[in-house]
Amino acid sequence: MPSTAVIGLQWGDEGKGKVIDSLAADADLVVRFAGGNNAGHTVWVGQDKYVLHLIPGGILHEGKTNLIGRGVVVDLEALIEEIDGLKERGVPVEERLRIDGRVHVIFPYHCQIDGLVETWRGEGRIGTTGRGIGPAYADKVARTGIRLADVLEAETFEARLRAALAEKTAIMSKVYGVEPEPYDDLFEKTRALAERLRPLVVDGGDLARKAHQAGQSILFEGAQGVMLDLDAGTYPYVTSSWTGVAGIAGGAGFPPNRIDRSLAVSKAYCTRVGEGPFPSELHCETGQKLRDQGNEYGATTGRPRRCGWFDALQARYSCALNGLDGVFVTNLDVLSGFEEISVCVAYELPDGTQVTDYPAELGSINEIKPVFQSLPGWSEDITQATCLEDLPPACRDYVAFIEKQMQVPVICLSVGPGRKQMFECDPAQAPA
Ligand code: GDP
Ligand code: IMO
Ligand code: MG
Repeated sequence: MPSTAVIGLQWGDEGKGKVIDSLAADADLVVRFAGGNNAGHTVWVGQDKYVLHLIPGGILHEGKTNLIGRGVVVDLEALIEEIDGLKERGVPVEERLRIDGRVHVIFPYHCQIDGLVETWRGEGRIGTTGRGIGPAYADKVARTGIRLADVLEAETFEARLRAALAEKTAIMSKVYGVEPEPYDDLFEKTRALAERLRPLVVDGGDLARKAHQAGQSILFEGAQGVMLDLDAGTYPYVTSSWTGVAGIAGGAGFPPNRIDRSLAVSKAYCTRVGEGPFPSELHCETGQKLRDQGNEYGATTGRPRRCGWFDALQARYSCALNGLDGVFVTNLDVLSGFEEISVCVAYELPDGTQVTDYPAELGSINEIKPVFQSLPGWSEDITQATCLEDLPPACRDYVAFIEKQMQVPVICLSVGPGRKQMFECDPAQAPA
């Protein structure tokens, strides 16, 4: 049985939650390897909507193990709230969930610092989710972070928390004029939260490697998207983790040469939440129409998502970078009712030259003009389609066009948020 990576191809919110939930039916283990509760992964089961933030997308399936890998940063209170929320809805979370003891903990001071730094940045703000993600990863890299396993050993935790708080208090009070939560409160509260999680704590890398050796099928669930990757994305308007396939080795403790298939999820157009370059963004009524038809509001913060046409340069770059074997295209139904649909096929640089490869030097990306190619739209409702043949010819041509642009096969199409509104398509039979 294969091990499969599933990542976001664009700026996040591509529909990973829906795809992972669907693939999880045939998996034994689902592993999150990056990010934190900045993620919001939506799964619809009939009329019931679930939004998962930290818990992997196999949690709604009986008999599957879901692992929060060591590369995830975990707000313990948010995790427990998520666990309890699912339990109230009848999901036996404890049976199905495991957490790597090496995950770094997001403390309330990380959330405070996230907000303070954003204010400090002013016009240059990133538009973070405010969940403390960047500051927690910064502490991890600075080696002042605290892992869940550290919290579970009272003496270790005491020493590490005292050291961390001394530094945070100095910085926060002197630079920002605020104080973090006092030591005693934080110590007691964090210990109590961690104790609740103790029965779920494992060596996640060992679990994943053994599962693979035993021939089990593993799904690696990406969070965010390639363009939000710390190194590959539109830095500094990125998140603080490695969101692509390369993040799995470090974030799950799984050997990269044992990943059998690398897949990504892409919307049939583009969205982005927060600040930063987005060359194919539409500021006009068409962008609003995409937002309305796609109900494009963030699953974590509720912010309206910025909307634009599919960006072929960006998609091709993300595909190549991750050595993808196939792409799921979601939200195809949202494009019904547009007379014409455009795809960004080149960028015009400030000096007038046009490029068709995603540029390495992005200092002036805000001055880039998108060059669009227009394709005929379709008016039919496609939400009930179950195979390529059910789609109007213009829709099939559109899929074939973006597939050619990506240079990676489109292996599955999603035509609505529901579990059943998705069907495989055989790339060999895709229209030329
Ligand atoms: P994720 O972060 O990649 O898991 O994506 P989100 O859950 O944040 O956002 C995707 C949104 O699109 C959710 O509201 C999904 O229910 C919805 N969605 C997923 N696939 C489709 C689709 O094919 N069509 C439509 N209309 N909505 C979809
Ligand atoms: P899923 O997994 C969309 C964006 C934020 C901000 C930037 C940095 O649901 O696709 P952070 O809080 O991570 O420091 O914010 O990254 N961002 C996301 N955008 N989907 C996400 O996750 C995101 N996670 C972070 O809006 O621009
Ligand atoms: Mg999301």
